[in-house]
Amino acid sequence: MSTVRILTGITTTGTPHLGNYVGAIRPAIAASRETGIEAYLFLADFHALIKNQNPDQVAQSSREIAAAWLALGLDPDQAFFYRQSDIPEITELSWVLSCSAAKGLMNRAHAYKAAVQANEESGEDPDFGVTMGLFSYPILMAADILIFNAHQVPVGRDQIQHVEMARDIAQRFNHHYGDTFTLPEAVVDDQVAVLQGLDGRKMSKSYGNTIPLFGTPKQLQKSINKIKTNLLEPGEPKDADGSTVFQVWCAFTEEAERESMRQAFADGLAWGEAKKLVFERINDELAPARQRYEKLIAQPGEVEAILTEGAERLRLQAGAMLAKVRHAVGLRPYH
Ligand code: TRP
Repeated sequence: MSTVRILTGITTTGTPHLGNYVGAIRPAIAASRETGIEAYLFLADFHALIKNQNPDQVAQSSREIAAAWLALGLDPDQAFFYRQSDIPEITELSWVLSCSAAKGLMNRAHAYKAAVQANEESGEDPDFGVTMGLFSYPILMAADILIFNAHQVPVGRDQIQHVEMARDIAQRFNHHYGDTFTLPEAVVDDQVAVLQGLDGRKMSKSYGNTIPLFGTPKQLQKSINKIKTNLLEPGEPKDADGSTVFQVWCAFTEEAERESMRQAFADGLAWGEAKKLVFERINDELAPARQRYEKLIAQPGEVEAILTEGAERLRLQAGAMLAKVRHAVGLRPYH
């Protein structure tokens, strides 16, 4: 069986939360351990600059997210784990791709269109606050993917369009310059839960409804206690479906325990009790990782070394792809 190359990027903004863990970190780490899979997991720190121009926050998020992935079990011997900004070949490729990617394609990107629409609605100039980075974001993302000939790109639904754009860009390049890139495919796992946040909407930093991954147990308990519920009293039957408390429980348990919790809800389990059980379960799962996380945060040199080595291991491969691309477009030595 031939190897499948799976690649995904993690934008280094914010502090890792439970939704990131359930929706991205946990499944990606599981995939990286499978045989027959070569996993490329990287910190998309150049992408982070589009969203955040505060240097200290940019630096801090990158450290925290790197430490979180390692603490949660990512084994750098089983996956390529690296920072985008440590592989300059990626940004070089991004420029070359910019020269053949259609501007019209970028005009259709959801993130860009949403920014323009928000400006129009508030009576601003349509381009207000829109950087070139935001506009050409999908091209950098295409370079991330194409430089390593990734076959599959596991992403959330909001990123499918970007992967399709990478495919379009690759196709156009191949057509014009000859077969160069593997055409990537987006993979969306419907089994992976989209975790609900404190207010019942999707857990997301932009909604301010997250449960941070690595606070103290007390902080975790406090966050869980804030999950919105209805006003049913202890003893009153509760419907598990639609309850965020139940949904979070399900993200950390197997079928049998889900069923017994469903029954306990029907039997009138108090919200406070249910939240306590959820807290204990999550805390048990996260406690060992929390310890590793604290250690890695205190010794950032270790994380730095892992990432630097991760990039070094890949630069030969990235350089070979870039040499091929340069030759294809006509940037060739004179001899
Ligand atoms: N745009 C992705 C996100 O916001 C992150 C990302 C950057 C990425 N480069 C990528 C994902 C390449 C997959 C492949 O989630």
